[in-house]
Amino acid sequence: MIKRGKVVIIGASNVGSAILNKITDFQLASEIALIDLNADKAKGEALDASHATSCIYSTNINVHSGTYADCKDAGIIIITAGPSIRPGETPDRLILAKTNSKIMGSIMTEITKYTKEAMIIAITNPLDVATHCIATKFDYPREKIVGTGTMLETFRFRRILANHYHVDPKNIHGYILGEHGNSAFPAWSTVNIAGMPLEHLDDCFNFSDKIERKAIEDEIVQVAYDIINLKGWTNTGIAMVACRFIKSILYDEHTILPMSAPLEGEYGLTDVSLSIPRMLCAEGVVKSFEVKLTDEERKLLYASADSVRKALASC
Ligand code: LAC
Repeated sequence: MIKRGKVVIIGASNVGSAILNKITDFQLASEIALIDLNADKAKGEALDASHATSCIYSTNINVHSGTYADCKDAGIIIITAGPSIRPGETPDRLILAKTNSKIMGSIMTEITKYTKEAMIIAITNPLDVATHCIATKFDYPREKIVGTGTMLETFRFRRILANHYHVDPKNIHGYILGEHGNSAFPAWSTVNIAGMPLEHLDDCFNFSDKIERKAIEDEIVQVAYDIINLKGWTNTGIAMVACRFIKSILYDEHTILPMSAPLEGEYGLTDVSLSIPRMLCAEGVVKSFEVKLTDEERKLLYASADSVRKALASC
C-alpha cells in the first residue's frame, strides 16, 4: 500500500542532501528514505537530518537511509543521482547526456522492480534528457513522471525582475520555457507583474533604467555556472523547486508550473522532453498548456528542442 507521505531520494550528494533537509524543514513528508551508492554517505546524511526532526518545531518524520525496496510503498521518488557540472568544466549540462542517461536506465530498472505507482521527480542533469529517458524507455505511467525543468530558471527570473522593480517575486508571473539549460528562454509575451505588462510597470515606476531583456536572458542561463564557480555546485534553488513540486503533489494543488515531460504534439513536437506549463496534482501531470507564443518565442522553443534532441541522439 502506497504511503503518500513517504519520499525516497536517490542520490545523497549536495542536491539530494539539500532536498532531504528542505523536506524536513518544510515538513513535506512522514518518512524519507535516502539511497546512495555510497551507503555511508546516505546513512550519515539521514542520521544528521533525523536529529533535526527531534526539534520541538518539527513533525516526527522518520528519516533513514534505505534501499530500492523502499520504493515499494513510496508516494514520491526523487532522482538526483549522477555527476553534475563542476567548476571549470564546459558550461553545458548536455555534456552529461551519455553518462547520466545510462545511470537513469539502471535507476529505473531498480525502481520498476518495486513500483509503478510512485510519482517520479527527475532532477539529474541534463534534466530534459534524463526525464525523456525515464519517461519513454520504461513501462511506467507517463503522468507519474516529471522533470523539474525550467521551474528553477523561473525562480531565478523572478528574483532578477523582483530586484529590478523592488517588488515581491510572487507578483511576477510568466514562463521560462524549453531546455533546463543553455537554450532556456523567457517567453516575454507571457510575463506580467501583478497583472500589469512590463511596459506599464516601467511607466508606473518611471524607471530611468529600463530592463535589458537580452542581459536578463543571458543571466538566467549563466547564473548556474557562476554559482558553480563560486561555491562548487548548486543545490539550494533546486531543492526549493523539488519542495514546490512535492507540495503540489502532496496537497493535490493542481498547480500550473513550467515543468519537463515528453511533448505529445504540443507546438507540433513529439520526440523530445521540454518545459512548458503543465498542471501538477496528486495524480501527477494531468494537463499541459500550449500557451500562445510569438513567432520569435516559437523559434526559440524549436531551437531548444533541437539541442535536447541532439543530446538524446548521443545517448
Ligand atoms: C541548476 C542545476 C540544478 O541549474 O541544473 O542549478
